[in-house]
Amino acid sequence: MQPRIFLIGFMGSGKSTLGSGLARKIGYEYVDMDHLIEETAGMTIPGIFSEHGEDVFRKWEHDILLELCELERVVVSTGGGAPCHGEMISIMNEHGITVYIKLAPEALKERLLHSKTERPLIQGKSEPELMEFITSLLGQREVFYNQARITLDGLHLNLDSLVGLLREV
Ligand code: S3P
Repeated sequence: MQPRIFLIGFMGSGKSTLGSGLARKIGYEYVDMDHLIEETAGMTIPGIFSEHGEDVFRKWEHDILLELCELERVVVSTGGGAPCHGEMISIMNEHGITVYIKLAPEALKERLLHSKTERPLIQGKSEPELMEFITSLLGQREVFYNQARITLDGLHLNLDSLVGLLREV
């Protein structure tokens, strides 16, 4: 098994739920990149976006990723934009196995509408605005997500089959 497993995918795709379950199952440590950034910065993600802006957030995301690449036996759930900025997908692919949790815009919209997590990029959007935003941003991001070593159907996630796939690569 690879020492580092990076879960990637759009906001609301289920990276944290799958990541914590996977880590428990294979006895790896679990790290949520967003939580680590919040802890390190002493601020929430919305606070970082509003006080410092997205570019600073992306820089911190990048720095945290490099630190995570030093750890062994770790499952990392990444922020939805992480693999799409500043070579981060290449860094993840060089240092571990990337797993893309793929979902269609409609399913992502339903999940995001009912999610309690505050996400600055979608804050205050109506349902039709959200749908348009997801479709457009996912269209731009898929070129990065598609560089993952493993792609999973986010509607039919199965931990045992993921563990099987991870043992093969
Ligand atoms: C972002 C996704 C969020 C968080 C930030 C920006 C994005 O993480 O990193 O709000 O650019 O897609 P989740 O994918 O965990 O929601």
